[in-house]
Amino acid sequence: MTVLVTGARGGVGRRVLDRLHTAGHTVRASSRTPAELSVPAGVDVRRLDLNSPDTFEAALHGVVKVFLYAEAEGAKEFFAAAHGAGVRHIVLLSSSTVEGPDAAADPLARHHAVVEDALSASALPSTVLRPGAFAGNALGWSHAIRAGQPVELPYPDAHTAPVHEDDIADVAAAALTGETLIGRTLTLTGPRSLTFREQLAVLAELLGREIPVRELTREQAVEGMGRFMPAPVLTSLLAQWAAAVGKPAGTTGTVRDVTGRPGRTFRQWAGENLGAFAAQD
Ligand SMILES: NC(=O)c1ccc[n+]([C@@H]2O[C@H](COP(=O)([O-])OP(=O)(O)OC[C@H]3O[C@@H](n4cnc5c(N)ncnc54)[C@H](OP(=O)(O)O)[C@@H]3O)[C@@H](O)[C@H]2O)c1
Repeated sequence: MTVLVTGARGGVGRRVLDRLHTAGHTVRASSRTPAELSVPAGVDVRRLDLNSPDTFEAALHGVVKVFLYAEAEGAKEFFAAAHGAGVRHIVLLSSSTVEGPDAAADPLARHHAVVEDALSASALPSTVLRPGAFAGNALGWSHAIRAGQPVELPYPDAHTAPVHEDDIADVAAAALTGETLIGRTLTLTGPRSLTFREQLAVLAELLGREIPVRELTREQAVEGMGRFMPAPVLTSLLAQWAAAVGKPAGTTGTVRDVTGRPGRTFRQWAGENLGAFAAQD
């Protein structure tokens, strides 16, 4: 049984690939630039661009299960190709933004909803994973922290319940290797709501030094973050953060239900990734 892992260079995809390979499954890894993929020996590598249907057939040949990143353009064609290739289960990495009160007007939510809708219209057996904010988003602060500069951010008191990418991968691997999660939509969060300021305080404590925060106005954030983030994504994030100021994020017990152990905390994530924030001599 070959499992295709798309986004095999991605934070979640790489972890899913490792889990399946270590457990002895036959895995195929894909990327838009396969030459840049580094995979364990024996893992088949294919080029797959989810926006380019001409790459679908070769990537899907002989595949029974797929771990899929959400790409709206080409999603319908991908599911038709997967159906034609005999795929029996798709595990989609979607987003909890689709559950937000303003989902219909939120560009990030819409991007994921298009793929979810195409998947349910395809009649392919599926499991939809809807994580909230990733713990790894904190890496966006690493440059400033390493340089000893203030972390500049809008809405520092906005809450999220950061979910560890290892937990998302554990749930994805469980879905891909069993039958019990077929047909389920799973919302994944970390175990605790924390504001951005509280996440930074955890990092500061572990690093043993202060991390100053400089609060940006919305306009300053649009100007600064707009340089490296597509405008629709930024609009969506700013709206989510503005709505989450002083409002603890809800948490789900999905990680515990699926894996039998509690979700990893932000503190654990920070401890494992502290090197990314430590000053370089
Ligand atoms: N960050 C969050 O807080 C958050 C919250 C909820 C949901 N999500 C979901 O999780 C995703 C990010 O996951 P991550 O952190 O693992 O991602 P990541 O590390 O940024 O990697 C993204 C992966 O997507 C692949 N990809 C991008 N465009 C593609 C295309 N056209 N065709 C095929 N593959 C493509 C890339 O593969 P190649 O470059 O190798 O082709 C790459 O491996 C988001 O896009 C969103 O859907 C994120």
